[in-house]
Amino acid sequence: MAAIDDLLRLDEGLISGRVLTDSGMYRLEQERIFGRSWLFVAHESEIPKPGDFVTRSMGEDPVIVSRAQDGSLHVMLNVCRHRGRKVCAEDAGNVRNFRCGYHGWTYSEAGQLTGVPFFDVHQGRLDRTSLGLCQARVDSYQGLIFATWDETATSLRDYLGELTWVLDILFGRTANMEIVGPPMRWVVDANWKLGATNFTGDAYHLPTTHGYGSALGLDVTRGRRAGYTISTANAHAANVNRWPEGNMGRPYLSLPEQLIAEFEQRLSADQLEVMRTMVSFAGNLFPNCSYLNIATVGFLNTEWRTGEQPASAEDSKATSFLTLRQWQPRGVDKTEIWSWQLMDRDVPDWWRESSIACYTRSFGLAGMHEQDDLANWMAISEGCRGPMGRKLWLNYQMRLGEREAPSDWKGPGEADYLYPMSVSDRNERAFYRRWADLLRD
Ligand code: FES
Ligand SMILES: [Fe+2]
Repeated sequence: MAAIDDLLRLDEGLISGRVLTDSGMYRLEQERIFGRSWLFVAHESEIPKPGDFVTRSMGEDPVIVSRAQDGSLHVMLNVCRHRGRKVCAEDAGNVRNFRCGYHGWTYSEAGQLTGVPFFDVHQGRLDRTSLGLCQARVDSYQGLIFATWDETATSLRDYLGELTWVLDILFGRTANMEIVGPPMRWVVDANWKLGATNFTGDAYHLPTTHGYGSALGLDVTRGRRAGYTISTANAHAANVNRWPEGNMGRPYLSLPEQLIAEFEQRLSADQLEVMRTMVSFAGNLFPNCSYLNIATVGFLNTEWRTGEQPASAEDSKATSFLTLRQWQPRGVDKTEIWSWQLMDRDVPDWWRESSIACYTRSFGLAGMHEQDDLANWMAISEGCRGPMGRKLWLNYQMRLGEREAPSDWKGPGEADYLYPMSVSDRNERAFYRRWADLLRD
């Protein structure tokens, strides 16, 4: 296994291709990154009632996320304490208990061991109270449920830190944010960090990888979006794009006007101002949970019209969509992608339908942008796998040693101007700095 410091020359903006292909490093990531970070596991609206559960994973460890009869949240290793069989095979459901399919050990919905067939034959050696499913620490923020195996980890609120300012806008702007249907899932032949770092800070790929909208003349912003790239503690990141001057689309991410009063109640004046003027928010919660909220800028709308300005929001079908996407490691060059759509519950039907269609056609399983991105990430994992590719140093030098702190950015974090004034690799370098710090100790 390579030494961590042989893989990074961050002061020069260089990263070895081996970070994506070294299987020893991959195993270390499982223990030191996925074993210790707060990891997103579910949204509270997926398990609203006592007994509700979903099965997820924390890195390669399968877990059950459940709501107990008293309403408390539990995240438990989905592995039987008898002989290690995965206990629950379903994706989701509502139960009073989980029964292991091998010998029948039974656990409550909160994970206590409640039933052992032929209990007396164990000669009193079985202590049922200490043989419940392994429990992770759990907490939630704005409906997002996170868990960590690290007893000594800082609180979730401290872990998310200043990025909560952005999370409030996306996930806390209304009281009734909820998941739309079950998450889509697919597996790709690419290292998990490629998706995570792309959402962390790669605005550079937009004109090339997703250039079809502009090429077809369908991008109403004509690529002239401007904004900020923001890095906060623990390598969380946000990239925030504004409507260009003179081309202000529908404010507040094209959300229905009847929701604005609620935004005003729940957000600060600065948060409101940022939300009002932005086309998109994209970023990553370290290590592997990314988010995207984007107004559908014409070419993704369910109806695209040229010429006359539609008379009403409904007539224009102007919407936006909000998605969470998780890059679940399944091997050094395999990733299971999970993608959720979230929706403010009280939007009108036309808005909901249009938003779902836009999300599905762009970032769903067969979405155009999703396909664009996957082609890159699979080609990188393939390109860096061979003996020559593994020797390459990958370039992350944009804005190395430079930053122009934007005087008009109203949010937190270390901000820099973003495309077209500046594209930057700052957030990706921060991602790998944090990655290396965790792997080292
Ligand atoms: S492995 Fe679960 S009951 Fe035996
Ligand atoms: Fe992309």
